[in-house]
Amino acid sequence: MKHLIDIKDLSTEEIDGLIEVAKDIIANKEKYSKKCEGKKLATLFYEPSTRTRLSFESAMMELGGNVLGFSSANSSSAAKGESVADTVRVIGGYADIIAMRHPKEGAPLVAAMKSEVPIINAGDGGHNHPTQTLTDLLTIQCEKHRLSDLTIGVCGDLKFGRTVHSLITAMSRYTNIKFVLISPNELKIPDYIKKDVLEKNNIEYIETQDIEEYMSDLDILYMTRVQKERFFNEDDYIRLKDYYILNKEKLEKAKEDLCIMHPLPRVNEISTDVDDDKRACYFKQAKYGKYIRMALILKLLEIN
Ligand code: CP
Repeated sequence: MKHLIDIKDLSTEEIDGLIEVAKDIIANKEKYSKKCEGKKLATLFYEPSTRTRLSFESAMMELGGNVLGFSSANSSSAAKGESVADTVRVIGGYADIIAMRHPKEGAPLVAAMKSEVPIINAGDGGHNHPTQTLTDLLTIQCEKHRLSDLTIGVCGDLKFGRTVHSLITAMSRYTNIKFVLISPNELKIPDYIKKDVLEKNNIEYIETQDIEEYMSDLDILYMTRVQKERFFNEDDYIRLKDYYILNKEKLEKAKEDLCIMHPLPRVNEISTDVDDDKRACYFKQAKYGKYIRMALILKLLEIN
């Protein structure tokens, strides 16, 4: 049995295979509409979510399966002190596959060690969010038609942003990838990502605080929200939350085929005047999330 806890659990061939299946689902939806008949997905969300939980549920429904679950710790027996390990042992008797989001880093890994059904990490603290990364890779493949030869700007909260850590890890496998890491000093990318991922894989990167400095070089601009829920000090959050606001003016020197991404939810970091720009891909990105999750459910349930 296979789980997905970290994007590193998947080989490059497996990632490419998931992207191919997702593209086939987009092109041939009817072919997949009964693939999961009789199967159930449980969504165990101990932390808030809109896209991840609902796209998982929509994905299972589009595959002909059913869904059950909870959307907050307070509406489950976690509120009475039940452990994650006990919960997944029980849910394994009710569902064939589990998608779990938890504020504690490592909780989905603990769940996987005790579970009799596949566990998908739908986000654990500031750690990992592998299905967001798969969503991002499908978006890049569909919008740029390649996963290599790209200069990628990542902007905002690079310290706490789990989507950024997973994206950099995944993209570092492909050839001729360069990163422009745009953040305030306090929210710089952690040293372990620089050493263990970027430097280890000889990936070229530049760090800057200026969103416009390298704008004309970028093929992709990946904006992120400052992660309020990860801050210990509210004053720091207030000081940093509006550090970057992407607007039409800042895009003046950008390439015509720039792809602007954001895992969403957005707060202020992309002005709504960018939404109508043909380079804004973030709402399409959220939709691609459903298709890659359909491909992942099929893979983990070993359904062809
Ligand atoms: N991108 C993302 O994880 O969104 P949600 O928090 O709404 O699931």
